[in-house]
Amino acid sequence: MDHTPSFFRCPLCAAPLEEASAALRCPNGHAFDRAKEGYTNLLPANQKHSKAPGDDKGMSAARRAFLDKGWYQPLRDELCRLAVASTGSSPVVLDAGCGEGYYTAGVCRALQSAGKTPAAAGVDISKFSVQKAAKRYQGISFAVASCYRLPVAGQAVDLLLNVFSPLALDEFRRVLKPGGCYLYVVPAANHLWELKEILYDRPYPNEEKETPYDGFAYREIVPVSYRVHLPCQEDVRALFQMTPYYWKTGREGAARLHAVSGLDCQIGFRIHVFQRDGQHSAYS
Ligand SMILES: C[S@@+](CC[C@H](N)C(=O)[O-])C[C@H]1O[C@@H](n2cnc3c(N)ncnc32)[C@H](O)[C@@H]1O
Ligand SMILES: [Zn+2]
Repeated sequence: MDHTPSFFRCPLCAAPLEEASAALRCPNGHAFDRAKEGYTNLLPANQKHSKAPGDDKGMSAARRAFLDKGWYQPLRDELCRLAVASTGSSPVVLDAGCGEGYYTAGVCRALQSAGKTPAAAGVDISKFSVQKAAKRYQGISFAVASCYRLPVAGQAVDLLLNVFSPLALDEFRRVLKPGGCYLYVVPAANHLWELKEILYDRPYPNEEKETPYDGFAYREIVPVSYRVHLPCQEDVRALFQMTPYYWKTGREGAARLHAVSGLDCQIGFRIHVFQRDGQHSAYS
């Protein structure tokens, strides 16, 4: 029988999990089936706040369609550059709230192209997104799990990605190695401004903060900003559906958006680069 250690820990007792046939098993008798797409559901029923938490099927499909067109590639490129610069030769990478895996896989590929041998993993609470991620990206360990209860050993991670996903600081502090790098992506003030102008009578800019967090040293904030021209309604709709505005917008705003045939829009991200306190590692 195959007894390869898994990257993940048992979500019930925190013991190491091993790959065994089509499941992950811990020494205390807990077992988690691997789905046919290759991911494992490590979210215990009592940690679920709803039947299908996180992005639903439609949001997950919209995100995949939008990202596949390359509209956010400048962000991925910048994350790749930072990942290569801030890791050693065999980094363990965890994407917390990985969605359908666009950035997880991009960063993993960039590290490989730079001659490194990364071990990459992604977790998200949305089954639909993790399904998509695992199906497309072989060689990366994906699990359905919550950022607030990561099924990951302490001090196991060299590089933590957190792109528009929940900020679970206690867990991030726990799983990062001393000296490890944490890349936290948030929207800049004018991100999607023109979309918001259509949706809301009085849109407001996002607040740009520089918050120090215990246990981390601020390295830098890297801005990524550009404009896109979305040429068709399909792209505008996909963008809308992958944002939180999708839940918050009233009927009139949504109707206005459905009437546009394309959109010129500002895109703006801020990548907050942190280093976990402790012994200095690869970041220079
Ligand atoms: C805005 S999306 C970003 C996804 C991906 N990082 C990207 O940029 O394409 C936020 C993601 O966080 C996930 N999420 C929400 N709450 C979560 C939690 N408690 N633990 C893990 N993932 C969560 C959602 O399912 C969704 O995939
Ligand atoms: Zn267990």
